[in-house]
Amino acid sequence: MKIIEIEGNRELSGTIRVSGAKNATVALIPAAILTDEEATICNIPEITDTDALCDLLSSLNVKINRSTESIIIDPKEMINTEIEESLSKKLRASYYFMGALLGKYKKAVMYFPGGCSIGARPIDLHLKGFEALGAKVTTEGDKFVVEADELIGANIYLDFASVGATINIMLAAVKAKGTTIIDNAAKEPEIVNVATFLNNMGAKITGSGTSTIKIEGVDYLHQCFHEVIPDRIETGTYIIIGALCGKMLKVDNIIPEHVDSLISKLEEMGVELETGTDYVTILNSNNSLKATNIKTAVYPGFPTDLQQPITVLLTQASGTSKVTETIFENRFMHIPYLKSLGANIEIKNQTATIVGPKKLIGTEVVATDLRAGAAMVAAGLKAEGKTTITNAEHILRGYEQIVEKLTNVGAKISIKEI
Ligand code: UD1
Repeated sequence: MKIIEIEGNRELSGTIRVSGAKNATVALIPAAILTDEEATICNIPEITDTDALCDLLSSLNVKINRSTESIIIDPKEMINTEIEESLSKKLRASYYFMGALLGKYKKAVMYFPGGCSIGARPIDLHLKGFEALGAKVTTEGDKFVVEADELIGANIYLDFASVGATINIMLAAVKAKGTTIIDNAAKEPEIVNVATFLNNMGAKITGSGTSTIKIEGVDYLHQCFHEVIPDRIETGTYIIIGALCGKMLKVDNIIPEHVDSLISKLEEMGVELETGTDYVTILNSNNSLKATNIKTAVYPGFPTDLQQPITVLLTQASGTSKVTETIFENRFMHIPYLKSLGANIEIKNQTATIVGPKKLIGTEVVATDLRAGAAMVAAGLKAEGKTTITNAEHILRGYEQIVEKLTNVGAKISIKEI
């Protein structure tokens, strides 16, 4: 098990450079197998979810040439075999191989995906989309066989604007016969990044970033070069950390409009920020923050992935704040640990009520999932004394070099294996 230790209550200043987006990368790597030549992707984050997907590619006999932050994926000698259970369950995004293999070979065999335990996370919308394209889905326990004689474009309405279902249906439809329309599609920037990648290979996708995506099937996808967008959740996490303990802390290499909802909330709370074309600088962490209410929503609403980190900031605001989680039913696992650090928080149904400001004092806490882990890091940096975060491997799934990046701006943070 990995453990992160933090000596908190230090001022952070300098520059943090944000890495490529995890949630784009984990879709781009499976999408790359759709090419009939080879794909080069740069700005790939060095996170353990990337490693897990590379292992999965290797298990399918896909050639990978990985160097710092870039990867060349050559699927010319790929073999479409069953994706074994341990690889399927290593991360949530293994489910993108369902759409990609179905799109390429008309058959995918794998197991229910893994990922953070933040709710039931069914994949019914993905499967309904595949069925609408003509695939037959059979299940045997946790094992899924999805196959089709032929994939034919269809009109698909998503009951919920799911990120995963939108991307997965796009992957399956890209080589289908005819036109597919996805209505009530998710609009997250990662979806646009994946659609751009596929279009660079010769796909015909329009409307990504809106709620109607149109995909005209093509027969052949050629080689391409592509760049991963900056990670908006990593961006938001460091901006929140800056609001907690930064002084002239610059979060660089970002697309500020991807975190508009966060910036608006921080301004409402009284955080002093400067926003540039590709950076946000937190001028000074403010001791008189105002309480606010936050409700998570699909993009461009407030991201559920930043709900856990911003709760830490709300513990430092004067008055009563409310955080309502609308996307996942079990995304409050960080709350008991924040309370053990000294926060005053009560949960009723899907709303956490936070009364602040409360002094945080370091203690031993657990990273129950990726973003809960990020919240623990933020809390540990603010807390007085030593915070020990166990199960820290969750954090390394999504944050490239988090210990090094924070050390460079003055944090006292270390990681060890026990
Ligand atoms: C993705 C992100 C995750 C982020 C989430 C919401 C990846 C790998 N993960 O997760 O970090 O928190 O988007 O922005 O990109 N749902 C169904 N049936 C389905 C699919 C989803 O009921 O078939 C429900 C889910 O249980 C959840 C909601 O829809 O309540 C949103 O899920 P979705 O947008 O699909 O999130 P993920 O793709 O799992």
